[in-house]
Amino acid sequence: MPEKPAMEGEVYFPSPETIAHANLKDWDETAAFARDNLEGFWEKEAEELEWFQKWDTVLDESQAPFYKWFTGAKVNIAHNAVDRHMKTFRKNKLAIIWEAEDGKSERTFSYYALQREVNRMANIIKSMGITKGDRVTIYMGRIPEIVFAMLACAKIGAIHSVVFGGFSVDALQGRIADSESKLVITSDGSMQNGKLVELKRIVDDSLRHCPTVENVIVVKRTGHDIPMEAMRDHWYHDLCALPVANGKCATEVMDAEDPLFILYTSGSTGKPKAILHTHGGYMVGTYTTLKYVFDLNDEDRFWCTADPGWITGHSYLAYGPLLNGATVFLFEGGPAYPYPNRWWQLIERFGITIFYTAPTAIRALMRFGEAWPNKHDLSSLRLLGTVGEPINPEAWKWFHRVIGKEKCPIMDTWWQTETGAFMITPTPVVPLKPGSGTRPFFGQVAEILDEEGNPVEDGAEGYLVLTRPWPSMLRTIYKDPDRYVKGYWSKYPGKYLTGDSARRDKDGYYWIIGRVDDVIKVSGHRLGTAEIESALITHEAVAESAAIGLPHEVKGQAISCFVQLKPGFAPTEKLSEDLRQHVSKHLGPIARPEEVRFIDKLPKTRSGKIMRRVLKARAQGLPEGDLSTLED
Ligand code: WT7
Repeated sequence: MPEKPAMEGEVYFPSPETIAHANLKDWDETAAFARDNLEGFWEKEAEELEWFQKWDTVLDESQAPFYKWFTGAKVNIAHNAVDRHMKTFRKNKLAIIWEAEDGKSERTFSYYALQREVNRMANIIKSMGITKGDRVTIYMGRIPEIVFAMLACAKIGAIHSVVFGGFSVDALQGRIADSESKLVITSDGSMQNGKLVELKRIVDDSLRHCPTVENVIVVKRTGHDIPMEAMRDHWYHDLCALPVANGKCATEVMDAEDPLFILYTSGSTGKPKAILHTHGGYMVGTYTTLKYVFDLNDEDRFWCTADPGWITGHSYLAYGPLLNGATVFLFEGGPAYPYPNRWWQLIERFGITIFYTAPTAIRALMRFGEAWPNKHDLSSLRLLGTVGEPINPEAWKWFHRVIGKEKCPIMDTWWQTETGAFMITPTPVVPLKPGSGTRPFFGQVAEILDEEGNPVEDGAEGYLVLTRPWPSMLRTIYKDPDRYVKGYWSKYPGKYLTGDSARRDKDGYYWIIGRVDDVIKVSGHRLGTAEIESALITHEAVAESAAIGLPHEVKGQAISCFVQLKPGFAPTEKLSEDLRQHVSKHLGPIARPEEVRFIDKLPKTRSGKIMRRVLKARAQGLPEGDLSTLED
């Protein structure tokens, strides 16, 4: 056993059992290889997957920041996630285990069955005239069909755009319209904490202003009555009964750089932007990161609690695990319904070995006390993970002690919709510090810079940037390449701006502090102040508004809104509640403000920009800082 290195702060070293089990024992060796030979590292990983035709170049930087990976190669991610496994024993291995929120139904799919389902869905959408490059919006709850739909699009070369089921009409409509989708795949509804979410009704409302949509496929999930529009709406089970649904669907041969999906995410200002990922690089990135960080083996049962509507669900619930031939557990419900032991009960019942979740969920479950998890045998677990926002050491330690029984390392993975895959993360053999994602993944270099672009000293806060390209990097913002260059590559030319601030300690460990832009992370969900403000402005009483994120014990951040009313409207408790309801109805329940405060006049700069910094300080009773730019 090598000696434990001297490190600053509180350190958790991997146990001998963890090291013995880990597929990758020597972190330093692989890190050094990738540092000195970035393309060699990724090429070696890419060779573990199947390509219809190999690449000419691993990394093409000639048009940076429009980097290209594996140029000249032909590939399809769906072939690698599904069809590739038919040649091995994995054909008969479970690919997906699904459990309904009410616990009354359970469905399982072997890789063979998954292939059949994907073929069927692919045949159907192809028969509706969807071809390579067409956009398809997917809006569903956490049911297996959402994964089938994503893979079916990939198989025929269509670009999927999944919209989180917790978003409502305005958000869905904006995303369908911007993507110019021809097809929407949805379900009659979904279940959330015992309550019905009427997804199809929200689709109907959204489609009033989306002329590009020709067809809507509706998966039956809840069985409640919904209106179906003749010619446009089709029940999925009816389509499955048609002869066209049968048989294998040809896999489209894609260029490595062809788009796989777009996923809308919130930026600093303006409308949500469509982050574009590709077949080749995204495939290699998600496959490799998941393999090393979560140490996947064929005996594992991997549970990622994220929703497929966010990047975590794309990369580590759908694509990453299936590319690795893993068994994925997909649960329809949330952590505490009907009781706060729901997740612990599922870990026990399904023998989950790797459990990946969000700090907000851990903090929420912590509050119910240890008695709930202690009712269950959690001994199957061997690795834990978190993502979405910084985890406070107290929650980390609770997760480690109460859930992991002090034997499961916690992979605190820092990454973004844009990065597609983990960027700062440990692997199981890396010593851990609660609250730090440790070091950059193989091949990546992260710097912390001041305003002028100089590296700050260790321990000081600065802008977090990534300095080396990676295969799963976003390629552009769909339909808006200028915004891609301006948003990510202009503040420090040649370096990728993450939008986060961070510190690095003496051991080279990174500590994420949070967003430095107008992005709010509410329970790990990424929302933009602009989206919330545009929902508010559609209310008749609102003249102007500003949304900010305030620290919240469980959610990490909570939305607080300042509203300037139109003449003739009085600031009442009822109006405040109406406005919160209004945002929830239009943008989605996840965007419901924690509070709405009325203000006579919003603080603005002389050039008319709202000074959110001042509002934030005011709301927390903190000093308001430099007010010299305030308009009066
Ligand atoms: C932002 C990206 C990619 C997974 C889901 C979020 C924050 C993400 C961590 C972490 C501290 C984190 C950052 C980042 N974030 N993971 N482990 N520790 N902060 O993706 O919705 O695109 O949000 O989430 O602020 O910029 P996203």
